[in-house]
Amino acid sequence: MAETTLMEKLVSLCKRRGFVFQSSEIYGGLGSVWDYGPLGVELKKNVKDRWWRAMVHARDDIEGLDAAILMHPRVWEASGHVAGFTDPLIDCRTCKARFRADKLQDAQCPQKPSKHPGEHSTCDLTEPRMFNLMFKTFMGPVEEQAAVIYLRPETAQGIYVNYQNVLNSSRQRIPFGIAQIGKAFRNEITPGNFIFRTREFEQMEMQFFVKPGSDDEWFERWREWRLAWHHSIGLTPARLRWHQHGPGELAHYAKAAYDIEYEFPFGWNEIEGIHNRSDFDLGRHQEYSGKKLEYFDQAANERYLPFIVETSAGADRVALTLLADAYREETVEGETRVVLGFHPSIAPIKTAVLPLVKKDGMPELAERIYHDLKRQFPCFYDDSGAIGRRYRRMDEAGTPFCCTVDGDTLKDGTLTVRERDAMTQVRVHQDQLLTYIRERVA
Ligand code: GAP
Repeated sequence: MAETTLMEKLVSLCKRRGFVFQSSEIYGGLGSVWDYGPLGVELKKNVKDRWWRAMVHARDDIEGLDAAILMHPRVWEASGHVAGFTDPLIDCRTCKARFRADKLQDAQCPQKPSKHPGEHSTCDLTEPRMFNLMFKTFMGPVEEQAAVIYLRPETAQGIYVNYQNVLNSSRQRIPFGIAQIGKAFRNEITPGNFIFRTREFEQMEMQFFVKPGSDDEWFERWREWRLAWHHSIGLTPARLRWHQHGPGELAHYAKAAYDIEYEFPFGWNEIEGIHNRSDFDLGRHQEYSGKKLEYFDQAANERYLPFIVETSAGADRVALTLLADAYREETVEGETRVVLGFHPSIAPIKTAVLPLVKKDGMPELAERIYHDLKRQFPCFYDDSGAIGRRYRRMDEAGTPFCCTVDGDTLKDGTLTVRERDAMTQVRVHQDQLLTYIRERVA
């Protein structure tokens, strides 16, 4: 399958089956902003739930937080975003298009025939200018400089400014972490590749506060745990790799950084960053706020500014990774079968309940079973069309199990449970069905 075709097929499946729609589509869409449909919202929720479970519920040393998107504007001065969260931009005075100066060779001039910016005789490019990626808005009724605030470009800062609140209100001692899932906004110049790089997205970030000197060790632990998490949600290990940031690549706050990259149809790209942020963040917030943010270690009777190890993943990017990883086409009995082979815990719908035919009381029984299962996890009832077609529809939605009510169900109470990947079928009694499915989709 040609790689570009795979992305086109994914985008089309996502729209057709209700995973992802273009924002404001009836008005022509809004650039690089996407909406999640009924299946997409379940998929992304499952990603976030799995992350929250692994990072917060399964651990004693991490607390959750939900900080506001809007923050004091000084936060972004302290973080370095006002001065440094910029891309170099070039404008074309002829066609009015705007390009990233460091990505000209990847960009297309809108004039025909298709060429890179600057290659047409009529191209008239400006010198590069720095452009801040933060979205600005105004707080209160007056649109003046003093009222400017920003939509957060990362969730991390909400954690740093609450670090003492969490410490004082929980029973945590260093080392400990704070985890948060939430929206972030970046006025990206070259967004694209569907939901890979968007202007509004969700981050799943965790900041782990450690004693200086133990940071390298914690950094390595977190690298190992985060890669294991990506394996646990079913991503193909061979399509994941590490990318270490070289000295020229390191962000202003980072002492060391690694990305977890996935081999997308459009190449290897970052899905999560693990950073050793040293004491940069707390040091800057201490300086800009004038509030002491040191930690007092009672046992050792010493004060220090904690170092921070950060793990930062995009929920949308992980959702796209799961979609790309799960998509496959197979030929079955001369026909193409499209399957989203999601790990069952990630699948938006866990099971479908299907009456074999629309008579003999089968729909009534199937509906009763469907309503029982639906109380426990997302299910789908479908009685329209041939059974083979209904299976295919569920394969394409990534549903791991289909339970069919047939003639034998009416006699002995057993249903056919068909598994999505191997298409094997077993018979399960309706009394054991809930346990059978639940054990396999957790
Ligand atoms: N707090 C550190 C931080 O924000 P980052 O590498 O800029 O680091 C972390 O972002 C993660 O957030 C990325 O690995 C990616 O998954 C996600 N992300 C960043 N920008 C994004 C965008 N424009 N669209 C979708 N996801 C994005």
